[in-house]
Amino acid sequence: MAGGRRTMKALVLAGGTGSRLRPITHTSAKQLVPVANKPVLFYGLEAIRDCGIRDVGIIVGETAAEVRAAVGDGSRFGLSVTYIPQAEPLGLAHCVLIARDYLADDDFLMYLGDNFVIAGIRSFVDDFRARRPDAQILLTKVADPTQFGVAELNAAGRVTGVAEKPSRPKSDLALVGVYMFTPLVHEAVRTLRPSHRGELEITDAVQVLIREHADVSSHVITGYWKDTGRVEDMLECNRMVLENIEPRLRGTADDDSEIVGRVDVAEDVVITRSRLVGPLTIGPGAVVTDSYVGPFTSIGPGCRLEGTEIEYSIVMDRSSIRGVPGIRDSLIGKDVEVSPAAFAPRAHQLIVGDHSRVRLNR
Ligand code: TTP
Repeated sequence: MAGGRRTMKALVLAGGTGSRLRPITHTSAKQLVPVANKPVLFYGLEAIRDCGIRDVGIIVGETAAEVRAAVGDGSRFGLSVTYIPQAEPLGLAHCVLIARDYLADDDFLMYLGDNFVIAGIRSFVDDFRARRPDAQILLTKVADPTQFGVAELNAAGRVTGVAEKPSRPKSDLALVGVYMFTPLVHEAVRTLRPSHRGELEITDAVQVLIREHADVSSHVITGYWKDTGRVEDMLECNRMVLENIEPRLRGTADDDSEIVGRVDVAEDVVITRSRLVGPLTIGPGAVVTDSYVGPFTSIGPGCRLEGTEIEYSIVMDRSSIRGVPGIRDSLIGKDVEVSPAAFAPRAHQLIVGDHSRVRLNR
C-alpha cells in the first residue's frame, strides 16, 4: 500500500423495503438471501475487503437485527463494521446523509447490499484512488435502460448527465450499484429534495455534482453484474455463481445414487437413491432421498427432499419438499413445507403468506 494514501471507507446499503422480493422480505433481509448458499451481502463485503478497505458502515432498516446477527463486527471478513440505523427507507442519498458523521471527511465507496459484481471491483477502486476524481460511477450496458439509472457520456468518457429510470434514455449505460465519492458529495446531498417517489435519489446528487462542474468519471464494466431485487435476478445470479463452483463431496451418497457434473455437497449431507446433476450445491445436514436435483440449484442447510424433482431453484434453510415432481424457477424461503395434498389428487391445498406467488399446473 502506498505510504500516505488517503483512508477510504465503504458505505453498504442493507436497509430498504425489498418489495419486489416479497414474501421472502416480509420476514428476512433481501441482502441475506443466499446465492450458492452464501448471503448475497457477503459477496459484496468480501469484494470491499479485497479493495483494501477496512472500515465499513452498514445502513440497516427493519431487518437490522438479522443483518447484525449475520455480519457481526465484520472481523470474520477482515472488516470493522459500524451499523447506521435508517428509520425509514428514504432513498440512497438519504443513506449518505445519515452516514455523514461516520464518513467524516474520508473518500468512500458506496455499495448497494443487494448488488452482485462477479469480477470484483478492485481495479475501479484502485483507479479512483490513483486519479481521485470528485466521483466515479460504474456503468454497464443493458437491454432496457428505462428500468435503471442511466448515464450520458461525452466523447472523453466523462459523465455529462444521469437520469433515474428515464422514459427516453440518452444511452444504454445503466448505473451499477457501486459508486466512489469524495466528501464533495455531502454538499450535493444537502441540497436535495425528495423525488416524485418520495426518496432522496443518488442520481440527483450525481447530477448536482455534474451541474457544479465536478469531475464525475465512469468505467463501463464488461463482466457480470446483477441487481438481485427480483426473484428471476436472484435465480440467474445463483446460476452464474454455481457455474464456477468447486466440486466437493463431503457428505455421504449411497451406491444407488448418481452424481454428475460439478456438485458441492457439504458435511453431514445424506444422499440416498437420488440423482444429482450439477452445477449445484447442498448445504450442511440436508437429506436427499429418492429425488432428482438438477442444474443451477442451491439447497440450504438442514433441508429435506424426498421423492422430489427440482432444478434451477433456491431452497433456503430447513425447508422440506416431499413427493412433488417438477419444481423449477422457484425461490423457497426458510422452514417451508411443500407436500402433496392428502386424498384429493386433483386438488391443491395452499397455506401461503401475503404477497406469495404460486404457479400450479392445471
Ligand atoms: P432498492 O432495491 O432500490 O430498494 P428496496 O430495497 O426498497 O427494494 P424494492 O424496490 O424491491 O422495494 O435498494 C437498493 C439497495 O439499497 C438495497 O440493498 C436496499 C438499500 N436501501 C437502503 O438501505 N435504504 C434505502 O432508503 C433504500 C431506498 C434502499
